[in-house]
Amino acid sequence: MIPRPTVEALFLGPKSENRDIFTSLLGFLVEEHLHWRRDFHPRDAAVVTPAEMRADPFLATTDRMRSVLLELSARLKDTSTPWFSRRYLGHMNSDTLMVSNLAYMASILYNPNNVAYESSIATSHMEIEVGADFAKLMGYDPATAWGHVTTDGTVANYEGLWLARNLKSFPLAVKEASPGLVRGRAEWELLNLPTSEVFDLLDATKKNRSFARSLKASVRGTGTGRGTPGKVFVPSSRHYSWEKAVDILGIGVDQLVSIPVDDDFRMDLDRLRAALDDCVEQETPVLAVVGVVGTTEEGAIDDIGGIVRLRQEFQRRGLAFYFHVDAAYGGYGRSLFLDANGRFLAYAELQRRLTSEGLTNWGPGIPSREVWSAYKAIPFADSVTIDPHKMGYVPYSAGGIAIRDRRILGLVSYTAAYVFDAKTPLDVNLGSVILEGSKSGSAVAAVWAAHRLLPLTMEGYGQIIARSIEGAYHFEKTLETVREFSVGGKTMVCQPLLLRPDFNIVCMAFNRKGNRDLEKMNGLNEAIYHASSYESGPLYGDEWITSHTELTKEIYGDAPRSFLDRLGIAHREWDRVGTVYVLRSCVMHPWIAKHTTYPERWLSYIEIMKKEIAEIVSK
Ligand SMILES: Cc1ncc(COP(=O)(O)O)c(C=O)c1O
Repeated sequence: MIPRPTVEALFLGPKSENRDIFTSLLGFLVEEHLHWRRDFHPRDAAVVTPAEMRADPFLATTDRMRSVLLELSARLKDTSTPWFSRRYLGHMNSDTLMVSNLAYMASILYNPNNVAYESSIATSHMEIEVGADFAKLMGYDPATAWGHVTTDGTVANYEGLWLARNLKSFPLAVKEASPGLVRGRAEWELLNLPTSEVFDLLDATKKNRSFARSLKASVRGTGTGRGTPGKVFVPSSRHYSWEKAVDILGIGVDQLVSIPVDDDFRMDLDRLRAALDDCVEQETPVLAVVGVVGTTEEGAIDDIGGIVRLRQEFQRRGLAFYFHVDAAYGGYGRSLFLDANGRFLAYAELQRRLTSEGLTNWGPGIPSREVWSAYKAIPFADSVTIDPHKMGYVPYSAGGIAIRDRRILGLVSYTAAYVFDAKTPLDVNLGSVILEGSKSGSAVAAVWAAHRLLPLTMEGYGQIIARSIEGAYHFEKTLETVREFSVGGKTMVCQPLLLRPDFNIVCMAFNRKGNRDLEKMNGLNEAIYHASSYESGPLYGDEWITSHTELTKEIYGDAPRSFLDRLGIAHREWDRVGTVYVLRSCVMHPWIAKHTTYPERWLSYIEIMKKEIAEIVSK
């Protein structure tokens, strides 16, 4: 049996600790490629001759190439953000897996294009395998589910809504193209068929050969001009790609309805219920509800099980909708809950194993039971966005989507004889069923290699995810030690946005004790961000690097009020200013929580912050 992967062997390392293994594997893979070229019809003559290589134009060209690459390297080193460093606590970035970087670099030499099987035989098969990995991770049955790699989470969200839109419009199209199949069913009823019944209808149209006609009569043929396919409910914490999605899919931004979040920044399900009640009363169709697992700004995890229960309840009342989970950020987190056989662990067993197997030392209660049950309910969603280039620790660009029932592909597929070969051994032509066209097979190779080395279970990815959550937990705990401190003769207070983060993002703000002016507080935090980001000049000078965000009343309503209370800012001040500036740290590093460096590492971050604050307040 292969021993459990060790996190220390997975990354190049903040000080290039694993450089020997990295360079030797890279050299080996490049050599492999060079041999591959030479071995392709070995008797074919070389095209570039030694005499040409000695000639001036050749030497001048290669000299120029060298200097271009030197400039490239200089520019990259000068301004790139050191994601690998423990000093980096900002956006959703960290060191990426060595195996993925190597797979990417090696495969780029073969330049695979996964739009068509013939231009990417190796990486197309890998994409199918990765799709099955996504499906299994989300608790779907890989035999009937489907998944693939997208450029990013944005495109995966577009794809989720594309599927939802085409599915919603299909039953009404059948009424037009093959009325016999839906005889006696009213329009409202057809707009509210549960997803599983739409699939049965789809099968029926295939059987009576009215599928193509139905498809033509659906939104695919007619566009959305005939009427909107319904509302799309999202939490107010959703990523901005959802606005773009409703825009480009012709649904209209007006149809996107934000459901407020509660104090924990999770979708308020009482408000969702009320909104759905209104839809029943006014006979307004609901196209989709989107839940988020790992919100962009807070890492909050919506109550997915609660949304599933609401869906069942409203289905009984005649209102059906598609359910998509945007787990672009938190999707890989599900591996923490799966044993080696892919079984979702009971809560008590999870807690026991996390400690007994030395994965964490965070103590009981983390992840919380609410977070556990949200992950547990994901298999009830129709589709899920999951991004390898976030918590999958794979380099850009690699997003992904998992879909519960692959029959849905019939509603989005297009074909082109010059690219799609009916005889491919894949059971589906990738390019014909995805939103994108030409796409990088190297990104797929990078994800595939990561999944082959690190199983999507507690023992594999779960180890990195556990360290990351633990890092956030310790960051949070350390902030508790500086709730109040003094610098330059002034007393300062510090508060996290969430007293107990769901995942691994810590947002926080500082205020001068007694200051009741929100604009002044915002100014202080903006100045801290300025001193701890690219804004203050070359990053080499920054002792720690963070990111920031601004929570506005327009988007978040009163959700930040309890946070502001803790910072001494009154509700009427929130009403007046309507925006709060917070520092945001996605704690993705596996290094942060290395037990040997805690708590010294954290206290030193706090000392750096204090030093910065002292400089700012003395100005
Ligand atoms: C919850 C969520 N969904 C979607 C996206 C979009 O992902 P991408 O930037 O890969 O397009 C993000 C990005 O941060 C996200 O946090």
